[in-house]
Amino acid sequence: MAPAPSSTSSAVTLNINGEKHHLTVDHRTTLLDALRERLDLTGTKKGCDQGQCGACTVLVDGRRTVSCLNLAVAAEGHEITTVEGLADGDRLHPVQQAFLDLDGYQCGYCTPGQICSAVAVIEEHAAGWPSAATEDVRPEAGPPPLTPEEIRERMSGNLCRCGAYVSILQAVARAAGEHAEATDGKAKETTA
Ligand code: FES
Ligand code: FES
Repeated sequence: MAPAPSSTSSAVTLNINGEKHHLTVDHRTTLLDALRERLDLTGTKKGCDQGQCGACTVLVDGRRTVSCLNLAVAAEGHEITTVEGLADGDRLHPVQQAFLDLDGYQCGYCTPGQICSAVAVIEEHAAGWPSAATEDVRPEAGPPPLTPEEIRERMSGNLCRCGAYVSILQAVARAAGEHAEATDGKAKETTA
């Protein structure tokens, strides 16, 4: 049975992958520990537990976040997406499919974090966000080409101890290309 709220714990409702979860958490519980230890959502991995490796990356309101540095109580009222919530039924998310097709992993431990990060990277880039590798950061310049340097820089918060970076880069590039094509197609449909 869940412990009753006290001066050191609170009852929270977390919206994860479109489902509401009610739980009582110690105020010091990280979002990562709540996901893994309380909700059995073990797709999100614990690597360094101090914000250095990106293994615990999830999406909070669509933005990538290291869940080991976020408190579960602070996640209430936000939409959290973990790697378990990316697929559409049996259909993998295009980023997941690209990682699978192009062997964007070896042991797979960093992969959920890499995939969640890549999903957000593609959205951030499409929205025109510059990175430290972007040469022309003026808003009127629009999104920079998603070169390998851009992808490396944007994915640099996600470490892979197996060194699967070459395939990870290829997978992100392919998924980004598919996303751009799909977005372009939709824009053409709406302007036709
Ligand atoms: S476990 Fe969170 S960044 Fe490493
Ligand atoms: S695939 Fe093993 S750590 Fe990245």
